[in-house]
Amino acid sequence: MTELTERLLAWFQRHQRALPWRETADPYRIWVSEVMLQQTRVEAVILKYQQFVESFPDAAALASADEEEVLGLWQGLGYYSRARRLHQAAQILVHEHAGRFPDYQGFRGLPGVGEYTADAVYSIAFGRPVLAVDGNVLRVGARLFCLEVDILSARAKKAVRSALHDHVAVNQPGVFNQALMDLGSAVCVPRKPRCEGCPAAFCCEAKLTGRTDELPIRGAPSRPRPTPVAVWVIRDREGHLLLRRRRGGGFLQGLWEFPWWETESSDAAAETEGAYGSGALRLTGRQAFHEYTFSHKQWLMDIREYVFDSDGELPWMPKSAEDYAWVSESGWANLPTATAFRSVFAFAGASGILAIGEEDDDG
Ligand code: ADE
Repeated sequence: MTELTERLLAWFQRHQRALPWRETADPYRIWVSEVMLQQTRVEAVILKYQQFVESFPDAAALASADEEEVLGLWQGLGYYSRARRLHQAAQILVHEHAGRFPDYQGFRGLPGVGEYTADAVYSIAFGRPVLAVDGNVLRVGARLFCLEVDILSARAKKAVRSALHDHVAVNQPGVFNQALMDLGSAVCVPRKPRCEGCPAAFCCEAKLTGRTDELPIRGAPSRPRPTPVAVWVIRDREGHLLLRRRRGGGFLQGLWEFPWWETESSDAAAETEGAYGSGALRLTGRQAFHEYTFSHKQWLMDIREYVFDSDGELPWMPKSAEDYAWVSESGWANLPTATAFRSVFAFAGASGILAIGEEDDDG
């Protein structure tokens, strides 16, 4: 059992709601409750549930009732097609399955029985070790694991299933599922979740990163703000470009690149000049902005051109001559570079030695 599971179950023991369908192990009654609870609030269901199972104590009683009687007892719950399908399903259960609950797939084939209903009934009544994913569980899962997917999409259900897979209490999946449901309705509520009382707060990624208000996401996820990146196109007096080879593992490693820094402020150029500039560099005044989208992030590149005074120093230059190079336009074409810098090479190629020479004469 994971720590999350343990804490959730302990919390549920203390705080679970006393609900009439929790006092039975009868799959028929649990089924009735789950159908009623699908589009209706718990408070509104309690009395209706009690009246319904009193009138129809088992599937046989429901199967032999008139539809009108069934609908009459459903009054106030709304979504009457649920009642009609439940009635039909009870008749199939009695006439085709001798009144016994079939296996999971067989149950799933009955009218009105969707994935959620089957998972809830079979985990609660038969201990089938599956997660029952309703709206509450989706919200809880999205927050626990910071799932950046549209909560109404099929992907969200998949993501929640896979993230919670290892936490399902296989010995008491029904209790586990109802603990998540209660957590969602009492603690991890849509607005202003009550994290102080949450047994999962210790590992909740949304809580730990201060994002409970942003999650879950409804609709397509908003694009994150691009990260400002300063990119320096540095030339020597002959017009060669300074490239460095990225080391240290991870992102873009081994590739040749222009010196770049991701920055905190949106004024990437000013921030990096303060931190990495030196008297050996002189701005030419050429500047351009380009966006580039990686699979996991987006850059807003603030590209500036400098001329390097060959007597000067750049403290951040790689120490090993294998890891930097002054290259001509024909030279850089042969080096492995990241696509992200294609537009920077275009920018660099568009200016020439002549332009720099003129600057030199003026200055
Ligand atoms: N919502 C749906 N099924 C539920 C259950 N078994 N307990 C509480 N809330 C629920």
